[in-house]
Parts: sequence; structure tokens; C-alpha cells
Amino acid sequence: MAVQISPSILSSDFSRLAEEAAAVSGPDGADWLHVDVMDNHFVPNLTLGVPVVESLGKASGVPLDCHLMIEDPDRWAPQYVEAGASSVTFHVEAARAPVRLAREIRAKGARASMALKPATPIEPYEDLLPELDMLLVMTVEPGFGGQAFLDIMLPKIRRTRELIGRHGLQMWLQVDGGVSTSTIERCAEAGADVFVAGSAVYGADDPADAVRRLRAQAQE
Ligand code: DX5
Ligand code: ZN
Repeated sequence: MAVQISPSILSSDFSRLAEEAAAVSGPDGADWLHVDVMDNHFVPNLTLGVPVVESLGKASGVPLDCHLMIEDPDRWAPQYVEAGASSVTFHVEAARAPVRLAREIRAKGARASMALKPATPIEPYEDLLPELDMLLVMTVEPGFGGQAFLDIMLPKIRRTRELIGRHGLQMWLQVDGGVSTSTIERCAEAGADVFVAGSAVYGADDPADAVRRLRAQAQE
């Protein structure tokens, strides 16, 4: 499927979220906007919640890709769909009933996506793949932007893409953490097609140009 670039607003200026979203939108701009929701329990950091997603959804022309790094996603994820998210990613380590949750997200009209922390293998969850529209393979420990890309995740990306193929599924495979112009090609080559980038986009002088450069490299 076509490459999708999803800049993470975690690295943007939170006092100007609408402008920061606008800075990466437009022709050849971001496909999705990645919104990192952290609750200070599942990860040691705290960001934003449902009301901010709702406002940002109205202000941003770019579909929201919500990544929930929170406890009890079974309870909260459906609210992010109602707030306007186009895709909602929950962590399998936190979900009590991932199949039921994925079905609920889909039934409410969003893409259902499941994330794996670096130490979580994909193999035990193979049978869940048909319930999902996207898998997120974390390439850093979740919690903070600006961390170094974990090269040791490349085999997991490759195995995940193989499993998706073996099941004959059309699914997005997202990578998140340390994605930049120096790591994106390796991720694409391993089978990822959705690329989250925080510091590589919002740390650049020209965020829109950073999105274009990432896309060009992913497509090579
Ligand atoms: C980290 C978040 C990421 C983060 C990525 O837990 O899930 O989305 O914003 O930031 P960079 O691209 O700077 O690693
Ligand atoms: Zn994220």
C-alpha cells in the first residue's frame, strides 16, 4: 500500500497545535497526524486526552492517528473514535480483551490498530491479525520523542510483514520511534509502510519539507 507519513505532534509546540498541524498539511504533506496519548501509568510521561483530540480533529485538515500509551484502553479507546480519530492504536500489553476492543473500534468507524513494545513478540498474536487494520511495531521504548532508533527491531518488522502476507491480509505496518532520513529506508525495506516521525519533522527548520524528504526516501 502507498507510503503514509504521520508526523508526531509530540515534538511540536503544544501551545500552537493547530498551526503545527497546518505546517505539515497540504499537497504532498502529511497523510496522517500522529497523536501520542500518554497517561503517566503505562508510560512515565503525560500528554493529552480526549478533549484535545476532539479540538485538534476539528482544526486539523489531516486525519488523526491516535496512539494510546495508556492503561485500560478497553475503556478509553472508543472515546477517541468518538472524538474524531481516524485510527486508534492500543497497546496489546495494556488491553484486557484486544479482539473485542478492535471490533469495537472498527464498529465505531475507525481503523483498529495494535501496538507492540520492543520486547513484545508478534507471534502470540498472529491469530488476531484479521481483526486489525494496522500493526504498530515500536522502534523505541514508548514514552518520549527524540530517542535513538532500535535497529534490533528490524527483524520483527520483517517477520510481521511476512505473517501479514501469509494470512493474505492487506494491513498497514507502522513504525514509531527514531524514524528519520537515516533510518526510514531500512524500515521500508523491512516491510513498513506507515512512518511516524516526531523530532525528524518538528525538529526540522521546514517541517513540510522534512515530510517530503521522508516520503521520498521511504519510496526509494
Ligand atoms: C514515543 C512516541 C512517538 C514519538 C516519536 O513514545 O510514541 O510517537 O513521538 O518521536 P521521534 O520520532 O522523535 O522518535
Ligand atoms: Zn507514537
